[in-house]
Amino acid sequence: MFKSEELPLLQNIVIKCVRNISSAELNSLKKINIIYGRNGSGKTSVLEAINILGLARSFRTAKFNAVIKENEDFCMVHGTLTGRRERAIPVGVIRKRNKEFLIKIDGQKTSSIHLLAERIPIQILNSDTFQILEGGPIVRRKFLDWGVFHVEQEFNHYWRRLMRALKQRNEALRHAKIRRLDAVRLWDKEILTTSKVIDGIRENYFAVLEKNFSGINKRLIGDLDVEIEYFPGWDKRKGLEEHISEKLEIDLKRGFTSVGAHRATFDIKNGKNDAKLDLSRGQQKLAVASLVIAHGLAVNEMSGKHLLYLVDDLPAELDDINLSTLLLVLIELDFAQIFITCINVDTIISKLSIIDAVKLFHVKHGEVVETVAS
Ligand SMILES: Nc1ncnc2c1ncn2[C@@H]1O[C@H](COP(=O)(O)OP(=O)(O)OP(=O)(O)O)[C@@H](O)[C@H]1O
Ligand SMILES: [Mg+2]
Repeated sequence: MFKSEELPLLQNIVIKCVRNISSAELNSLKKINIIYGRNGSGKTSVLEAINILGLARSFRTAKFNAVIKENEDFCMVHGTLTGRRERAIPVGVIRKRNKEFLIKIDGQKTSSIHLLAERIPIQILNSDTFQILEGGPIVRRKFLDWGVFHVEQEFNHYWRRLMRALKQRNEALRHAKIRRLDAVRLWDKEILTTSKVIDGIRENYFAVLEKNFSGINKRLIGDLDVEIEYFPGWDKRKGLEEHISEKLEIDLKRGFTSVGAHRATFDIKNGKNDAKLDLSRGQQKLAVASLVIAHGLAVNEMSGKHLLYLVDDLPAELDDINLSTLLLVLIELDFAQIFITCINVDTIISKLSIIDAVKLFHVKHGEVVETVAS
């Protein structure tokens, strides 16, 4: 259970020139931080700033210049993290309009977003999270790999090797008529080796994710039989070697490699049916929330890491009882710090029992002001 005297992962954050926020400071952050205000006041922009601190990018747009405040040349987010033995670690990200960026971790400059991401694991629950259900297999593969990346350092190395091999093989597939088929086969071994390692890492992680998903899901939508099932990217009954050879003709026609760990994904089922077709909007939200929470539990269980949950517009789609249960489940995660946005703060506050672990911030026209529960 959460101990309110424990320092949260993110102790404070300074935001400059993100969307309509010229300058804001959110100090002495707590386990639960509620950011409230009217439409267009800047609530999602606060969450976006936290995401910039953890990943040097926005969760809303790939065109980063849209995030930088109008008429400004750069934006900046700075924060203090709690390190081991509660040592404070300063972290900062500056992104300019001309695409330059600067990351500083504990006083050291770095160009590695991975180093930043490793330290600040972030999970987001917003209207885009429905994509885990509604989107294609790639969305779910990327979602799964977030956890895999956080628990297994080797993963990135093998993933990069697989990507390089696929690039070369796909190139050779497209030119197979003029070159020789050997150029295609040359890369099969590397795809086999890396795919098998990646699959082993994913399988391990997925077992822990599945266990946690099932527990959380029972609490959130107990009356439904929602399950997740991992697919490695090839038919395991055949084996990858055989499957790659079997698909060679098709791959030559299409110009890309159709089996391997890059095609991994997972299915979300309600009984025998595809969950996205079967569940109501509220149930879908609870199912994706279960996945997002299970991810945090799995990462914490396997790596001991603490993480941040950014929950944009929590009350949307949920009735009072489901909102209370989801809040309770989130609060019980002793490794997680939670940032929740909402329009009406009372909808959340009335459902919280541990007020001393909660901090409130009111956002108005891009100004962020700390308030207290009335
Ligand atoms: N680059 C920018 N420069 C200045 N203002 C911007 C920029 N991009 C967006 N805005 C404005 O920032 C404001 C805050 O947007 P934000 O999405 O954070 O609001 P919100 O409080 O989350 O609103 P809602 O309740 O509707 O979700 C909006 O009024 C938007 O028009
Ligand atoms: Mg918003």
